[in-house]
Amino acid sequence: MEILNVTEIEPRLKHPAIFDRFDALSGGEAFVIHNDHDPKPIYYQMIAKRGQTFGWEYLAQGPDVWQVRITKLEGSEKPATVGEMVAADYRRAEVFRKFGIDYCCGGKRTVEEACRKKGIDPDTVKKELADAGTRGGSIHQDYNRWQPDFLADYIVATHHRYVTESLPMLYELSAKVARVHGDSHPETVDIARHFEAVAQELQMHMHKEEHILFPYIKQLAAARRDGKPVARPPFGTIANPIRMMEAEHESAGGSMEEIRQLSDSFTPPEDACMSYRVLYAKLNEFEQDLHQHIHLENNILFPKAVDMEATILG
Ligand SMILES: [Fe+2]
Ligand SMILES: [Fe+2]
Repeated sequence: MEILNVTEIEPRLKHPAIFDRFDALSGGEAFVIHNDHDPKPIYYQMIAKRGQTFGWEYLAQGPDVWQVRITKLEGSEKPATVGEMVAADYRRAEVFRKFGIDYCCGGKRTVEEACRKKGIDPDTVKKELADAGTRGGSIHQDYNRWQPDFLADYIVATHHRYVTESLPMLYELSAKVARVHGDSHPETVDIARHFEAVAQELQMHMHKEEHILFPYIKQLAAARRDGKPVARPPFGTIANPIRMMEAEHESAGGSMEEIRQLSDSFTPPEDACMSYRVLYAKLNEFEQDLHQHIHLENNILFPKAVDMEATILG
């Protein structure tokens, strides 16, 4: 196997040389880096730039010589999807948001496909994505590295709680604005109707996650840590409830998209009263929270849960 002796490379060229070597690999191929200290910084840089597309295995761990075998994972040569890209580095979400590209419900598309659908030049988006990866700030919101059971609890404690707390106010405001302004602004009546549907769907949806799917994910995570056996769930395999949850995400995301269009991207008309303005501002916030919520489930939690189940139950 090829050994890349990093100690012989000029400092500023070390990381580019490793990336070049990695990018030239086909799925399943590997090379070894040889260094005089722990090359962990390269690991973090690769996670940030290439996502979970590689294996990282120490062959020697000091004190004088460090060797790591880096393997390109099978199937990782396929272009990453928008959802996977955001999962690998959350700073990219801002770029997709700016171009109106949906990275949660529509997260299974590649950048090319998403751009084609929106009629945007993919090169412009790719350039901004590359810049986003080098921008300061951290990838501390690196949910990808969290344990799945912790992530499930986090989603419930933040996003589910946010939805539960926001629904009564939004429900009341949208009904009030439709009642008062429906004659001069008929779109407010449709907005209230769409919102009522989203509110009902989301309540049932979150109940299913909290009482059926997430407890099973937490069981799998505990089993993986402690080696305890897990019984086959009544729903057969986790792929079944996940498919249902993803379809419901699609539906809620679609209704919010309708509301966005009806409200001209949450822009209140000149004559809007305070309730009208608060409603639009709050709906905008609600949609953004929903996108992040669905992203964490579709792109991070669910794929990890599928992998855990496959490893544990075969
Ligand atoms: Fe959820
Ligand atoms: Fe969900």
